[in-house]
Amino acid sequence: MKKKIFSGVQPTGNLHLGNYLGAIKNFVDLNNDNQNECIFCVVDLHAITVNQNPKELKSNIHETIATFVASGIDPQKSIIFNQSQVSAHAEIAWILSCVARMGWLNRMTQFKEKAGKDKEKASIGLYSYPVLMAADILLYDSTHVPVGEDQKQHLELCRDIAQKFNNDFKVKDFFKVPEPLIKKEFSRIMSLKDGLKKMSKSEMSDFSRINLTDDKDQIINKIKKAKTDTLPLPSKIEELEKRPEAKNLIGIYSSLTNSTFQKSIDKFAGKNFSEFKDDLSDVVVDEISPISLKIKELLEDKVFLEKIVKDGHEKANEIASKKVKEIHKIMGF
Ligand code: TYM
Repeated sequence: MKKKIFSGVQPTGNLHLGNYLGAIKNFVDLNNDNQNECIFCVVDLHAITVNQNPKELKSNIHETIATFVASGIDPQKSIIFNQSQVSAHAEIAWILSCVARMGWLNRMTQFKEKAGKDKEKASIGLYSYPVLMAADILLYDSTHVPVGEDQKQHLELCRDIAQKFNNDFKVKDFFKVPEPLIKKEFSRIMSLKDGLKKMSKSEMSDFSRINLTDDKDQIINKIKKAKTDTLPLPSKIEELEKRPEAKNLIGIYSSLTNSTFQKSIDKFAGKNFSEFKDDLSDVVVDEISPISLKIKELLEDKVFLEKIVKDGHEKANEIASKKVKEIHKIMGF
């Protein structure tokens, strides 16, 4: 049986190394395996849960598509499309919001973090965002969903929604209950300025993250300025637990060299950070610079990018429309 892979990325600009190592790099590996049918979605409806400037949104949508392709996703093999172009997502999100329970959504930690202290002023969309995410996944009978660690709770909610729908309407296995694909290690890349905070697109300081559009000099400079402590690198993995910045940088190195924490520690034990940072810069530059250059090249060819999402839209719409018809029948519409 082929695995059906679905995942999404918000076009909110500043796609970074965390997005790449936590998600996009895995998308590429899954795309390259012929046993998989992959769908990768630019989730623009999710983006508008916070204020967006329409012009910037359009340009961020292009940049996200360009990033998928520049990273190695082949649009001939995988479907790449924009969420807003397939109206089934919004429609099924409504139906699923009548299945999901308030109590379930009240537990979502990401809403609490994003809404901050002033929850009353957050949009309703920000609150119900995980239900739209469930619609994205369930419309395509997705079996596996590659994401970073921060999306784990949303995927658990999606599984609960699928099971409740199947039970409520007595349609066993109608919605496939998807499995998350979250790497055991390196699925949560932290800020370069604070090893306890997630690397994030919305963090004010650009020095907190390596953007996938950064050039060689920017990458080297950001790694040079990344926060560390004063001790040499440890020789035991347990010592990393108390040293979040060291753990994060060694994690990034290990992930990019397809290695393990232990092997990287063995290599750098006792060395000082400046030596390690030189090696780290080399591996980050080797991986990210070609992607950054390719993104810039692809952004010059909007016609090509638009063609990718037009083709993707047709394929995605065909699958989603069939599912919507079945859902209508089940609901009694
Ligand atoms: P988004 O756009 O915030 O992030 C895209 C992907 O990048 C991962 N990620 C990280 N991984 C490791 N370390 C980090 N610091 C880091 N920051 C982000 C995220 O886990 C994600 O996999 N709700 C989703 C988008 C979405 C979706 C979906 C995903 C909408 N519908 C359906 C899967 C399936 C989001 O906001 O991701």
